Order: sequence, then C-alpha cells, then structure tokens
Amino acid sequence: MARSSGRVEGKAAIVTGAGSTPGDGIGTGKASAVVLAREGASVLLVDLYPERAELTLKMIEEEGGKAKVFAADVTQADQCEAMVAAAVENFGTVDILVNNIGLASLGTVVDLSEEAWDRALNVNLRTVFLASKYAVPVMAAQGSGSIVNISSISALRGDGTIAYSAAKGAMLAMTVDMAYSHGRQGIRVNAIAPGHITTPMVNSVSGQDPRADFRTQLRNEAGLLGTPGTGWDVGWAVAFLASDEARWITGITMPVDSGVLSITPLSMAQYLRAIPE
Ligand SMILES: NC(=O)c1ccc[n+]([C@@H]2O[C@H](COP(=O)([O-])OP(=O)(O)OC[C@H]3O[C@@H](n4cnc5c(N)ncnc54)[C@H](O)[C@@H]3O)[C@@H](O)[C@H]2O)c1
Repeated sequence: MARSSGRVEGKAAIVTGAGSTPGDGIGTGKASAVVLAREGASVLLVDLYPERAELTLKMIEEEGGKAKVFAADVTQADQCEAMVAAAVENFGTVDILVNNIGLASLGTVVDLSEEAWDRALNVNLRTVFLASKYAVPVMAAQGSGSIVNISSISALRGDGTIAYSAAKGAMLAMTVDMAYSHGRQGIRVNAIAPGHITTPMVNSVSGQDPRADFRTQLRNEAGLLGTPGTGWDVGWAVAFLASDEARWITGITMPVDSGVLSITPLSMAQYLRAIPE
C-alpha cells in the first residue's frame, strides 16, 4: 500500500469519470480515485467506458485499496440513481462525490454548432446535476457529506471554448448554490479549477497539432512555478477537500493551476517564447 495519512479512512466515495482517456499520463478522475483509495476510502469507479475504470481498479488493488467499477452514462437519470444505489449497497453509504466528468469543446459562439453546444452542456454540466441529485439525499440522511466539482480555469478566463466555459462556469454557480442549500444538512460543496495540466485527454486533442510539443512546453511553463501539472495535483486537492481536514471549508473554488489565475499574460511575457509558425 502506498504511503497514506488516512485522510478519508472508512469513507465511501463515488468518482464520476474515474477512467482516463487512453494515453500517457493520468486523468484527474483516475488520480482522484487512486488518491482517495490510498487515503482509506472505498471508491465506486464510474465511467461510460468500464474498461477504462478497470485500469483504475487495477492500480488501486495493486496498492491494497478498495474499489469497484460501475459502468454508467452519467447524463442519464436512471443510471445516476443506480450508481448511488450501488455505492450504498457496496459500501453502506455515500460520504464523498467527485463530479469529474468533462469533455473539451472548442469553438466560439458563432462557429459552434447547436449539437456541439448541447453535447458539451450535457456531458460537462448535466452529469453534475444528476449525480448530485441522487447523492445529496443519502448524505443529508446521515447529516454529512462532501462534494467536489471539477471545473476549470476556462470558467474564469477566455480561451475560445464557449460551451465548455459556460458549463464550467455554471458548475461554479452550482457549487455555491448547493453549498447554500445543503450546508445545514452537513454537506460541504466545493469546486476545483484545474489550470493547464497535462492529461491523456489534453494530449489526445493537442496531439493532432503539428506544434504539439511546443504547446505542451508552453502549458508547462505558463504558470508562476514554470513546471508541469498533472492529474495527481488535482487528486491531492480532491482528497483534502473531501476529508474532514476541510470540515469548515464550503462554497469555494480552489485553483490548482501553478498560479495562472494570479497573473496577466503581459507579466509572463518575459518567461514565454513566441509560438512558431
Ligand atoms: N486536462 C486539463 O487540462 C483540464 C483542465 C481543466 C479541467 N479539467 C477537467 O478535469 C476533468 C477530467 O479531465 P481529464 O483530462 O482527466 O479527462 P479524461 O477524458 O481522461 O477523463 C474523463 C472520463 O470521463 C468519462 N466519461 C465521459 N463521459 C461520460 C459519461 N457521460 N458518463 C460516465 N463517464 C463519462 C470518460 O470515459 C473518461 O474516462 C474534466 O472535468 C475536465 O474538464 C481538465
């Protein structure tokens, strides 16, 4: 078993999108699930593609952790209801819900199609609504719970992803509203805004770009620390917010971004190189 502080010892967790797009590196959901298991939680690994979640399960079991795969399309209400029921059946309750599913969607308000808008809102936002809808009553009944919504710095900064940004921004509004509505039931709701981390999903999108290596380098160097971020950086933040160590923290958005939200492009110009043709 990897080193653990028992941060979430004995807790039952659901991580949506707990698989990872195939490729080098690790996604935020997969890393969150592994860290939560390492820190003592039992984790329901929910993914549309169960074969992806099986790889997460393998990693967790190799470390001596406890988890179970649950195949579901989290855009569907009945499957979300079944997902929560499976957590209760297998682990006794739901203490932690990590709303992690996300789908990149490039395009401006002018060039994005209506279908792409609907798809992005469905996958990025509806999943948060539906998973929470069924998990919150279980948490409320026991008088405690922690929900962590994986948003993005795209919610707060322009980058030409109108539907993705709209969905991720709405997640921040939902975070505050859910924290308000369920605080007195002992439920904390927080969001994480990852910055330019490199995950297999990012590589699969940017890999088609002939300047992919340069873009990766730029992503790595864009923050104040000038070093690359990974899914693990998000995973550790999730474990903290999910744990009782964060017992008095609710309604916040925590950037995990190497300080990108603390700077202006101009202030960073001295550190960055021009994008080659
Ligand atoms: N990678 C980044 O730079 C970055 C930056 C900011 C925010 N994020 C956010 O982090 C989260 C995860 O990103 P990632 O790069 O790890 O992605 P990923 O594609 O590796 O993982 C997401 C998982 O969700 C699953 N999934 C997709 N639709 C689903 C559905 N309807 N039902 C169930 N499962 C479904 C996929 O199969 C996949 O395994 C997303 O919310 C993303 O928006 C990523």
